[in-house]
Amino acid sequence: MSSIKLDTEFLDTEFQNQAENILDRSRLALSSIQNKNCTGSQWLGWYDYPRSSGYALLEKICAYGDDIKIAYDLIVVIGIGGSYLGCRAVSEALSHQYLAGNSENDLKKIVYIGTSLSDKSIIELLEFLDAKNPIVNVVSKTGETTETAIAFGLIEKYMIGRYGADVAKDRIVVTTDAEKGLLRALAKDRGYRSFEVPNNIGGRFSVLSAVGLLPLFLAGHNIRDLLKGADSLFSSVRSEQSIDGLDHPVLRYACFRNAAYQLGYKLELLAYSQPKMSFFAGWWQQLYAESEGKSGLGLFPIGASYSSDLHSIGQMVQDGPRNMIETFLSFRNNDSKLMVTEVQGFEESFSHFEDRSVDSINSDAMLATKIAHSDGGVPCVEISAESLDAEGLGELFAFFQLSCGISAAMLGVNPYDQPAVESYKTNLFGLLGKKGYESIGASLNARLNK
Ligand code: PA5
Repeated sequence: MSSIKLDTEFLDTEFQNQAENILDRSRLALSSIQNKNCTGSQWLGWYDYPRSSGYALLEKICAYGDDIKIAYDLIVVIGIGGSYLGCRAVSEALSHQYLAGNSENDLKKIVYIGTSLSDKSIIELLEFLDAKNPIVNVVSKTGETTETAIAFGLIEKYMIGRYGADVAKDRIVVTTDAEKGLLRALAKDRGYRSFEVPNNIGGRFSVLSAVGLLPLFLAGHNIRDLLKGADSLFSSVRSEQSIDGLDHPVLRYACFRNAAYQLGYKLELLAYSQPKMSFFAGWWQQLYAESEGKSGLGLFPIGASYSSDLHSIGQMVQDGPRNMIETFLSFRNNDSKLMVTEVQGFEESFSHFEDRSVDSINSDAMLATKIAHSDGGVPCVEISAESLDAEGLGELFAFFQLSCGISAAMLGVNPYDQPAVESYKTNLFGLLGKKGYESIGASLNARLNK
């Protein structure tokens, strides 16, 4: 059974009815995914992935781990978008924010590069690497992404310069398409160990493939639990159950979003009160933005870290244009019981905190926020998982992927392509004069009067 719950108690009757009326459409959308006859059905490899391939991949990754036999204390992930956000979502959520990698027993630290074209980011990382023994995982489905290629070229040169080509070879592992692309050709040429990005899974749906699992395994995360969590979510909607009467949070969340869209809302906030979830929100944001933002359609997705953002964008959420909906993301169990202490001499001012844990006050702050925002005209729902651990995150990945597939089908867009992202990539290739992009370069230069 999946632990994910969706709480809609703060939605008003009009909204509840609007969402209820489209529940059947969401069931149809789910069955089109399960029967593989939805738009973009060639990209459905993520659906039920733990059972179809994930557990087998786990064995391969463990075998690789047994085989490499090199000492390392840092993982460098080179990749952008769907090729790094899922991994970062897990490692930031589950690692100690200050002490990660400080002792033998800790989860190892992962650092990320190739997420921008900033020279400073690369220079500073190279300086940091001198004091470390890194292992490098370069991740690109197409194997052609500019940011990734530039960062990889510089990091590979550093690794070969420092360790020599033979040793560097064991410290570099490639994750890319099985056949196509520059990175695949390079892995073959150099003899690097490699993993595949399945050809039926797009970047933002790939966290549970080698794209996310390999670097997380190298850092010591429990990737079996991640798969187990996702498996439990997929099991809870498996197609042998009758879909006609199915009432599931994955459907209800898609209906909430679709109802909001129909009622004219423009924006969705994903509000979380554990700052460690900020990259999970980044992953969620990419998932929905790249999957649904097409042909002028879709809700603009934005993460909001509370309490911090309540003291910055809170005013706008409460009282700005009434164009947003809000999804709170929470975990029901927290075993840390840090209690508030009174400040000596000011006991009176602290009396309302007596016998309260910091976490219970955090929950009350979220409740207070939900009440305030819904009173202010922001339709709010809450999605919760049992615990902030690998299993909980695995469930959430599967939950949002599936609900996004359903939501996009209800909206009438293909969630699995990203033609608009390709526009900037193509323009950049044209401006750089890349082979094959000469005519694009010529027409851009003409436009720019160059
Ligand atoms: O979701 C997607 O497809 C994109 O965000 C890609 O992951 C991103 O553009 C990186 O592409 P690649 O993995 O080909 O380097």
